[in-house]
Amino acid sequence: MDLGFGGEVARLYQRYRRGYPPAVFDVLATTFGLTPQDVVVDLGCGTGQLTLPLAARVRAVVGVDPEPDMLVLARRAAEDQQVANVSWVLGADSDLPTLGRLFGDVGAVTVGQALHWMAHESVFATLRPLLRPGGGIAVVANGTPLWLQDTSWSRALRACLERWRGTELSRSCGTDTDSRRRYADALTRHGYHVTETVVEYTDEIDLDALLGGVYSSFPVDALPPTAQRTELSTMIRDALGPATRFREHVRVCVLTGRIG
Ligand SMILES: C[S@@+](CC[C@H](N)C(=O)[O-])C[C@H]1O[C@@H](n2cnc3c(N)ncnc32)[C@H](O)[C@@H]1O
Repeated sequence: MDLGFGGEVARLYQRYRRGYPPAVFDVLATTFGLTPQDVVVDLGCGTGQLTLPLAARVRAVVGVDPEPDMLVLARRAAEDQQVANVSWVLGADSDLPTLGRLFGDVGAVTVGQALHWMAHESVFATLRPLLRPGGGIAVVANGTPLWLQDTSWSRALRACLERWRGTELSRSCGTDTDSRRRYADALTRHGYHVTETVVEYTDEIDLDALLGGVYSSFPVDALPPTAQRTELSTMIRDALGPATRFREHVRVCVLTGRIG
């Protein structure tokens, strides 16, 4: 399974994609009553943005991802941070029926910025019997893509990227209201008790973080080679004008489905 998250994209992802604020982990702990006895599965864990902070709250976390390069970096980050209660599994949502035989009585399954890659109806159905009473699934959206925000710099960035790629950029990777409503409706149909909590804050990033965030979103086979990347970076810098810092309103949505 190659979805374009390997190689340099994995490195860019780890370096430039922001993690989640502590309030998100409070929501997960409270909603699912997580305790130091619990096991949590982080499906589509990437380089561990959700996985690693979660580990401090529970007995063990299992990070599952189909991209080996993401898992290598996640494992290295766990070592660097001396997090010793995470296991990394190469797998995808389609492996859940098999993986479920290993787990059992899971406190929560988290999916951060990754459900749009999965067959969500089947994920919700497959997970139900694996969860302990009061446990559930959390679908977490970590803000809006840099080029789809309601600011002048974001609009300028979008225009520049659309010119470069020769295509309209409207995909929001499951962070938009319609996708979230679709996920909420599906959770309800599968018998989960659904709630949504929004955690909002303001952040400021510099040009390096902005460019890194943009390049981390390219599939690896579409990532421009160095010379072209320099050209694109110059185009973006010119489009954004003299500003050196860019203010973002970050809206993290935590959609939870809990079982009784
Ligand atoms: C945008 S990253 C999100 C990483 C991390 N969870 C976060 O919150 O930042 C999406 C991740 O989903 C993984 N992924 C893609 N398809 C998947 C699937 N079918 N099952 C599980 N994970 C998948 C990718 O390999 C990638 O690491």
